[in-house]
Amino acid sequence: MRILLFTGKGGVGKSTVAAGTSALAAARGQRTLVLSTDAAHSLADAFGTPVGAEPTKVAENLFVQQVDAQRRFEQSWADIQGYLLSVLDVVGVDPVAAEELTVIPGAEEVLALLELRLHALSGEWDVIVVDCAPTAETLRLLALPEALGWYMQRVFPFERRVVKALKPVLTRAAGVPMPGDSVFDAVERLHAELDEVRALLSGPESSVRLVMTPETVVLAEARRSFTTLSLFGYRVDGVVANRIFPDAEGDAWRAGWVAAQAAVLTEVEESFPGLPLWKSVYRTGEPVGVEALRDLADEVYAGSDPLAPPVGEGPMKVTRTTNGAVLELALPNVEKGDVDLARHGDELVVTVGSYRRLLSLPAGLARHQVKGARVSEGALHVRFEEKTP
Ligand SMILES: Nc1ncnc2c1ncn2[C@@H]1O[C@H](COP(=O)(O)OP(=O)(O)OP(=O)(O)O)[C@@H](O)[C@H]1O
Ligand SMILES: [Mg+2]
Repeated sequence: MRILLFTGKGGVGKSTVAAGTSALAAARGQRTLVLSTDAAHSLADAFGTPVGAEPTKVAENLFVQQVDAQRRFEQSWADIQGYLLSVLDVVGVDPVAAEELTVIPGAEEVLALLELRLHALSGEWDVIVVDCAPTAETLRLLALPEALGWYMQRVFPFERRVVKALKPVLTRAAGVPMPGDSVFDAVERLHAELDEVRALLSGPESSVRLVMTPETVVLAEARRSFTTLSLFGYRVDGVVANRIFPDAEGDAWRAGWVAAQAAVLTEVEESFPGLPLWKSVYRTGEPVGVEALRDLADEVYAGSDPLAPPVGEGPMKVTRTTNGAVLELALPNVEKGDVDLARHGDELVVTVGSYRRLLSLPAGLARHQVKGARVSEGALHVRFEEKTP
């Protein structure tokens, strides 16, 4: 199975390229599902047909799904929601508003990714294409289970016991219901499921493609997502430059744009060394419908395999040395001063700008000491040595 995620700045053509790629995969005989993590019905618009909350067939081998976050929430988190509702009721929030409140912002996308997990487990699909929300925010949310790991292992079980012991007393005293076992179970299940999604999306069968238009501000954002995605362990395996103005006779306006885009395209090549740069021209009309989308994807991949397994070693690599090891984490477009490193028990805390990852160290390294770190060739290298007794 192959999982392809498409992300990029708003409006650059993520849905179009994701839909096109899925149409191309399906035309090659792969059982393909394309799903969207955003609430707007953009896939339905791209395919030019209504799409339901269940996979809807739009062509041979090709299914589209618009995840219904509200319904999914009720299915998976009825217990958590029920608890939140009862608390809000006590505080005096009216029930209709409370229903709304308990759907957390950003939860929709995470829910869509939980749906992806179910599809991946079902074994029904050869290819799953995900049309992501702008710029990797969702994928950052997936770092949550990793970040909560420490809490879930050490604090959560304790809290659960305490709540159980104090429940009768507290409920009477404060008037606010204490969470029951089913709420704790639901939280634990959710944590485990999110962790599985993260493992799936950072695994060897998954990769992220960055969609952009050749404009300076768009490129700047794509470079930042490349760094962030790498930091969180996702593998970027290609860049799509969309809406390129064809170079042809024209007036000064057009010549100006063609020259400006050509300059940015050169920078794009330099920003993503080693990654394929796929190109797609600005069409004379919106590519809508299976055929137009497949044509666009045909042109984008220009004969290369859109489903090729991702190349390279992946975002993290550990190499043994005589008395320790070197951990290498891909961190493109950063310099040493941008990175902050701290050791926290079995974890390495890597901070780049406002993004932080709690990286669980591989078992073999947990008892080693950090001896040094450097940033070079788009990667952070951390040197570990065995503790001398
Ligand atoms: N190569 C192209 N030529 C012409 N029109 C295009 C091309 N690529 C995309 N479009 C059109 O541009 C618009 C935006 O594309 P799309 O919806 O795929 O962007 P998006 O990145 O998914 O946007 P959002 O951030 O809102 O989800 C759509 O109307 C689409 O049909
Ligand atoms: Mg879209």
